[in-house]
Amino acid sequence: MSRIHNFSAGPSMLPEEVLQQAREEMLDWRGSGMSVMEMSHRGKQFMSIAAAMKNDLIELLAIPDNYQVLFLQGGASAQFSLIPQCLLNGRTQAAYVNTGSWSTAAIREAGKYCRVQLAASAESNRFTHIPAFADWTLDADAAYLHYTSNETIHGVEFSAIPETGDVPLVCDMSSNILSRPADISRYGLIYAGAQKNMGPSGVTVVIVRNDLLDLAGGSVPPVFDYRQQADADSMLNTPPTYNWYLLGLVLQWLKTQGGIAAIEQRNIRKAGRLYQAIDASALYSNPVDPACRSRMNVPFVLADAALDKTFLTQAEQNGLGSLQGHRSVGGMRASIYNAMPEAGVDALIDFMAEFERTH
Ligand SMILES: Cc1ncc(COP(=O)(O)O)c(C=O)c1O
Repeated sequence: MSRIHNFSAGPSMLPEEVLQQAREEMLDWRGSGMSVMEMSHRGKQFMSIAAAMKNDLIELLAIPDNYQVLFLQGGASAQFSLIPQCLLNGRTQAAYVNTGSWSTAAIREAGKYCRVQLAASAESNRFTHIPAFADWTLDADAAYLHYTSNETIHGVEFSAIPETGDVPLVCDMSSNILSRPADISRYGLIYAGAQKNMGPSGVTVVIVRNDLLDLAGGSVPPVFDYRQQADADSMLNTPPTYNWYLLGLVLQWLKTQGGIAAIEQRNIRKAGRLYQAIDASALYSNPVDPACRSRMNVPFVLADAALDKTFLTQAEQNGLGSLQGHRSVGGMRASIYNAMPEAGVDALIDFMAEFERTH
């Protein structure tokens, strides 16, 4: 068996320890005589897996008691549509901050349900910075303010939480959840697809403050209704049980790594070394304002785009996979989520230096 260093943006690499544990438990989960895949979601074995998974997430993120933690389907994309449907509560406008492709997608969807008030946008700078909070305009009549804490494609990440007063703050945390501490009490609602820092695709985590649970008033399908799913412990229908189990293993792994504070330090070291190598080189460059460069997704371009193909081919030959940038922006992108070991980033840096020397 040989495993590559996988820089995919998502679905992305999982900790090897997690995959090994899943392999060991595949046929017979802890003496049950069954694979987790084969268990009834209402049986006591799976209920214990689900409860541990939820408790570990609450513990790792220090989620306060007045929040519900939901595990839904439909990806973060379903939340783009559901958030306006569930939170407008009779209001006609919601505020959005546009910092890249994923905010743009959320804005496009929200526009079907309400007037989108653009509180700030970095579009004119080709999404290479985050507008200063002091320059944001927030209408007090907005039902909520939505932002994307890490733009997976443009490699732009917030290092502070926006202040929105009484307007509930809603965050798409898909690509940096669990990578750094976050004061959950500052948010009305957080959502995140699992397939970057939490596990395989197919699970969307939604953390929602109790006072926002009932605003949909039954107007959305029950499986997407925050209140109904909260009351049913996210089991209104059959959940993707094996994905929940894997998510639980990733959370247990994160605890063995020292939790979020420790993983953040590792993430700072990994990203710091990679950006330093890019900035010191004459071949590679990253266009993002250093104050808001993502620790999770590091896009970079080669001075001569004609070398892109050779770079990618040789990277693959050296066991470095999925470095191609998103089709909308081109170039390269190294996604270095929690599961990427420091050795993987060092291997990439060594390869980049050797490629620059020989080209
Ligand atoms: C920040 C962000 N939001 C939303 C999405 C869409 O997620 P999904 O494919 O789970 O709907 C992605 C996917 O990469 C993302 O990175």
